[in-house]
Amino acid sequence: MSIQQQPVAGNAEDAVASLQQRAAGLDRQDRLAHCRSLFIGTDTPLSYLDGNSLGRPLRRTPEDVAAFIRDGWGGRLIRGWDEEWLELPQAIGDQLGRAVLGASPGQAIIADSTTVVLYKLIRAALAAVQDADRNELVLDTENFPTDRYLVEGIALEEGLTLRWIETDPAAGVTVDQVRQVTGPRTAVVLLSHVAYRSGHLADLPAITQAAHDAGALVVWDLCHSAGSVELDLDGAGVDFAAGCTYKYLNGGPGSPAFAYVNQRHLATLNQPIWGWMGRKDAFEMAAGYEPAPGIRGFLSGTPAIFGMLAMRGTLDLIEEATMAAIREKSVRLTTFAIEIFDELLAPLGVELATPREPAERGSHITLDHPSFSKETVAAMWEGDVIPDFRSPRGIRVGLSPLSTSFEEVLHGMLAIRDRLQG
Ligand SMILES: Cc1ncc(COP(=O)(O)O)c(C=O)c1O
Repeated sequence: MSIQQQPVAGNAEDAVASLQQRAAGLDRQDRLAHCRSLFIGTDTPLSYLDGNSLGRPLRRTPEDVAAFIRDGWGGRLIRGWDEEWLELPQAIGDQLGRAVLGASPGQAIIADSTTVVLYKLIRAALAAVQDADRNELVLDTENFPTDRYLVEGIALEEGLTLRWIETDPAAGVTVDQVRQVTGPRTAVVLLSHVAYRSGHLADLPAITQAAHDAGALVVWDLCHSAGSVELDLDGAGVDFAAGCTYKYLNGGPGSPAFAYVNQRHLATLNQPIWGWMGRKDAFEMAAGYEPAPGIRGFLSGTPAIFGMLAMRGTLDLIEEATMAAIREKSVRLTTFAIEIFDELLAPLGVELATPREPAERGSHITLDHPSFSKETVAAMWEGDVIPDFRSPRGIRVGLSPLSTSFEEVLHGMLAIRDRLQG
């Protein structure tokens, strides 16, 4: 461990005391403070800094799920499909569109996993590009592994060329980089809105415009922005987007993903997994595949109804709280985390691998230090402080605006300092 500058003990104690006062003050001023108690586990001293991997459950979720088992599944049995469940992927998709995505009804749906949804959307985007000369896919070196693997696989399947943007691991993809690699050969650009490691927030409207200027289509991965950053997919003219529901939407482990398809692509939507649930009149069981009209044609198999129950509670809460207030708190949380970093961790040789400009980051920060390892984080988990490790030497601190308190952030980051001082 390389400790560059050890703060003298007295000063360090003063710094902690003043940060504790700041945290208490920020919690008192927090307009969303009342939301925290709506989540299970927030009345314990545990510091949860990984809601951007798996969000906490809402207190209402056990009863919502129990009521579904008792009254829906248990009471309505197979009738439930006709009465409600068949429509649920679209109904929740519409609520998600309204509350989170900035999407008018009929363009979002809950289905599959993010990986499968992205595969379907990238293939749908390629099918929508009606120009054989456009044989390049644009991606970036810092995108989430699943995104890179998918595009590599699709390029192999379809004989397409990959154009890689070399991204700064502590920042993210810029508009200029996208302009440089796109042109008359570009078919599709796939990028993450918030980078999973650095937390960099890409300029979604400007990058979408840059891709469109080059005649290409864009697929956005919104896993780390849905529920933490304000979105206006319709306003930005986004073509396709996908994201997880188990992070800031608290859907629970493995809850299904969402897909967004802009209505201008819906009439000709051609996704690659033709299953009975995406067919027009699924229960006719007819010969041949004819897609259901609209976003329903995106489905393939039986929707995972059970996995969709928990996210509804969070969507209700987001509609009440508003994404504007959630984003405002997210910026305050990450700003406070950076303040703690500056005071306590930078003097110990830790580096911030996240943009300092609030408009350029999402709801997590990453801290790099040569001594940080999986074992460091495992030891913190043992002590009920739960951040995440991101290779090669990063501790990722995820801040969920609805459930994270400022005191929780300070408590967790003090534990990081304690590990360094060992
Ligand atoms: C940015 C990003 N993209 C894609 C995925 C993959 O999602 P899934 O495992 O649901 O397919 C994740 C998962 O954490 C992610 O963070």
